[in-house]
Amino acid sequence: MNITSQKGDILKTEADIRVVGIYEGEDWENAFISRLGEETGGKLKVNARKREFEGKTGQILSFPELLIVGLGKQEALSKSLREITGLVYGHLQNLPVTHVALELFGEDDDAYDPQATAQAMAEALLLASYQFDTYKKPKRKNIVEEIILIAEDGRDALKAQKGIEKAEMIIDGVTVARDLVNTPAQDMSPIRLAQTAEKIAKLCPDMRLRIFNREQIEKKNMGAFLAVAQGSESEPRLIHIIYKPEKAKKIIAIVGKGITFDSGGLSLKPANAMQSMKCDMAGSASVLGFFATIARIKPNIEIHGIIAATDNMPSAKAMKPGDIVRASNKKTIEILNTDAEGRLTLADALVYAQKQNPDYIIDLATLTGACVVALGEEIAGVMSNDSDLAHSLISSATSIGEELWELPLFARYSKLIESEIADLQNIATTPYGGTLTAGLFLKEFVEDDQKWAHIDIAGPAFAERPLSSYLGKGATGYGVRTLVKWIESL
Ligand code: BES
Ligand code: ZN
Ligand code: ZN
Repeated sequence: MNITSQKGDILKTEADIRVVGIYEGEDWENAFISRLGEETGGKLKVNARKREFEGKTGQILSFPELLIVGLGKQEALSKSLREITGLVYGHLQNLPVTHVALELFGEDDDAYDPQATAQAMAEALLLASYQFDTYKKPKRKNIVEEIILIAEDGRDALKAQKGIEKAEMIIDGVTVARDLVNTPAQDMSPIRLAQTAEKIAKLCPDMRLRIFNREQIEKKNMGAFLAVAQGSESEPRLIHIIYKPEKAKKIIAIVGKGITFDSGGLSLKPANAMQSMKCDMAGSASVLGFFATIARIKPNIEIHGIIAATDNMPSAKAMKPGDIVRASNKKTIEILNTDAEGRLTLADALVYAQKQNPDYIIDLATLTGACVVALGEEIAGVMSNDSDLAHSLISSATSIGEELWELPLFARYSKLIESEIADLQNIATTPYGGTLTAGLFLKEFVEDDQKWAHIDIAGPAFAERPLSSYLGKGATGYGVRTLVKWIESL
């Protein structure tokens, strides 16, 4: 689908259909009559009255060559821009149209920013048009071929064009992440992840890649990561992708949980809980998707992407409950539940990340079912030892439409993961507050003066039901857009 911007009068633009937005309570009927003439405008007015169209958010009034969309209250538009645009796309999909002229919504608003508006709308359109068709022909093809975002003003149209280009770079990365997560575990091994990293690193001369195999991981004394990997037939990989521009003003490290399949190990998951566990590498998919976008937007920041990739499988060689392993920072861990494997792989990945001397470390992980219980399927949780970092991540996420809420690293709960016979145990002694104790476990592998945030994406990474008008079932690529927005704030 091709999206461009153009200056013009939306009602006079050549297209199969024109899409116009109307605020709730706006005196739009008379405006239409003056723009379309008494006859057409008048017919429209009668029709709208009949169908009780009031301009409420997402309400759609459909005519053969014109869609009128409710934008809701003017003050609230920026928050619902993506949702409304996604609804429009969904509606267009059911019409026999290929060429669409779409008005940039909110043009008459005081706070109107053509570039940001076009970017948000293009992002929603591109996200909504995503289809995962590797294994099945899509039920229906995307028939919308071209969408022109119409601006009243010529300079605005140029700015909008920039916004569209930015959206394309970002959604390319989100699509990389979604495809990786949607691909079944049989075809998404640690080696496949590493190959994807290789392809991405080649996109940009400022990128380099280091990949370590089992032996090399052993040399790094990553006993926690290796404990998870020891039960699996597929070989683990430690993936370190580096973007290093000439004059970087900051260094950041992004760590992604990369469990290519989580069976639970010997603490086997029940069948239902296992069904979607190909998604347990969503954190690492977002890291790779983020790098695909980085390769194109080339920020002035040194970025390290770190993934400890492995399956979590039961086998005769698998780690056993009661085993004690030593992570690369020398801390010993009593493994009481092999299904709490993500924190084991992340422990070593975080220790490795710190060796890059980053200003910030952020990890993305489908870490706990408890986070889905706490925040539901649409919201991710963030825990950080630096409240400014947590808040800047939350404001980045919120501004681009990914939901993120803070949960506490509540120090008194640390005693719940102390073991009698090792430094730590990998599950708490109580079933309550599972997301917090998982976060506190990770904290044991980060130095106190290292700014770090952990984002638990177990809810929104993989949608069991459509999460919004523009994010359908399956992988969402959660985190890529937030990270892009966040590095722009550094
Ligand atoms: N990968 C799961 C968490 C998960 C659950 C991700 C649902 C996505 C959707 C993780 O490895 C896990 O199994 N966690 C356990 C921890 C428990 C054993 C302390 C859980 O949440 O049940
Ligand atoms: Zn698990
Ligand atoms: Zn897991």
